[in-house]
Amino acid sequence: MNVRTQVLGCGSYLPERVVTNAELSTMVDTTDEWIFERTGIRERHIAADGELTSDLAMKAAERALEHAKIPAAEIDMVILATTTPDYTFPATATKVQSRLGMVNGSAFDIQAVCSGFIYGLAIADSFIRTGQSKTILLIGAETFSRILDWQDRATCVLFGDGAGAVVLRAGEGEPEAGGGAGHNVGRGIISTHLHSDGSTNDLLYVDGGPSSTQTVGHVRMVGREVFRHAVINLAAIVEEALEANGLQPADIDWLVPHQANKRILDGTARKLGLPIEKMIITVDRHANTSAASIPLALDEAVKDGRIKRGDLILMEAMGGGLTWGASLVRW
Ligand code: UT7
Repeated sequence: MNVRTQVLGCGSYLPERVVTNAELSTMVDTTDEWIFERTGIRERHIAADGELTSDLAMKAAERALEHAKIPAAEIDMVILATTTPDYTFPATATKVQSRLGMVNGSAFDIQAVCSGFIYGLAIADSFIRTGQSKTILLIGAETFSRILDWQDRATCVLFGDGAGAVVLRAGEGEPEAGGGAGHNVGRGIISTHLHSDGSTNDLLYVDGGPSSTQTVGHVRMVGREVFRHAVINLAAIVEEALEANGLQPADIDWLVPHQANKRILDGTARKLGLPIEKMIITVDRHANTSAASIPLALDEAVKDGRIKRGDLILMEAMGGGLTWGASLVRW
C-alpha cells in the first residue's frame, strides 16, 4: 500500500465585520454596480483593529481540529500560507503552534500569495508521503485589508480577510498504477501541480518590504493583465492535473477555485465545459481572501453537505509571482 495524504477535517473563520460595496462607495469613487458587474463581489469581511492573521488562523485551526476529532497534540507540523504575517518574523505558524499548546513538531510559513494553499498542499503531501510527518495542520490565513491602498479603487474593492484550515493525515492509498485510471480511486491527495513565472512579478506585487523599503507597502496590480494570465494559466493547470491522472472534466464532482473574480470562475467553467453548479463560489460574500479563499470555500461546501466522502475535488489558484497550481483530491 502507498501512503496517501487524506483530509481528516476542515474549518474556517471570517471576521465579524462585513463591509458592503455600498459602504466602500462612501470611501472611494466606486459603485455597487461596477464592483458586482466586474467582479461578482457584494461584500467582504474585514478584521477588527488588533485582530491579527494569527487570530484568524487560530480560530480556523480550532474548528478544523474539532471537525477532524483529534487533539492538537497529534499534529506534528503546522504550515501557514500567508502574505500578511503578524510580523516579518517569527513565522505566524509558530504563534499558532504555541497557542495550540504544541511543544513538539515544527511550524513555518509559506508565501505564494493567492496560490499559497495549493503550494501548502504540495508541501504537506511531500512530507506525509515520505514519512517525515504523520499529521499536518495546513492553514491559509490573511488580513489582506492591512496591505491595501484604501485610496486605490482598482484594488481596495477586491479583497477581504479570513482563514481556512485542513488537517491532513497519512492514510493508505490505492496501489500505484503509474498514472491512468485506477490510481485515483482511494481517498486523499491524488496529485498537486505547481508553476511560477517570475518574469511577471510586476503585474501583481506589494511596493514595500523589509529588505527594500523597510515598510509594509501596498498591493499594486495591473488588473487586466493579471486577468488575462489567470484565464490562460488556470485552464492549462486544470488540464495538466486531469491529464496526469487520465481524467476528464466530467469526472470532477466539485471545482473549488481560488476566488478572485466571478468572471474568471465563469470563464474556467466554460472552458472545461463544467456546469457552474459544480463550482463552489464564495467570491460574492468573501471577495478575494488570497491564501484563505480555497479552504474557506472548501469548508463551506463540506459543512453544508455539498462535498461528500468519495467526491473528486479539483482545487486551483493563481496569484502574485505569478504563481499558480492545482490539486486533485478524492474527498
Ligand atoms: O488573486 C490574484 C488574482 N487577481 C485577479 O485575478 C484579478 C484579475 N483582474 C480583475 O479581476 C479585473 O481586471 C479587475 C476587476 C481588477 C478590473 O476589471 P477590468 O474590467 O479589467 O477593469 P479595468 O482595470 O480595465 O478598468 C476599467 C475602468 C477604468 O476606467 P477607464 O480608464 O476605462 O476610464 C478604471 O479606472 O474601470 C475603472 N475602475 C473602476 N471604476 C469604478 C477601476 N476600478 C474601479 C472601481 N469602481 N472600483
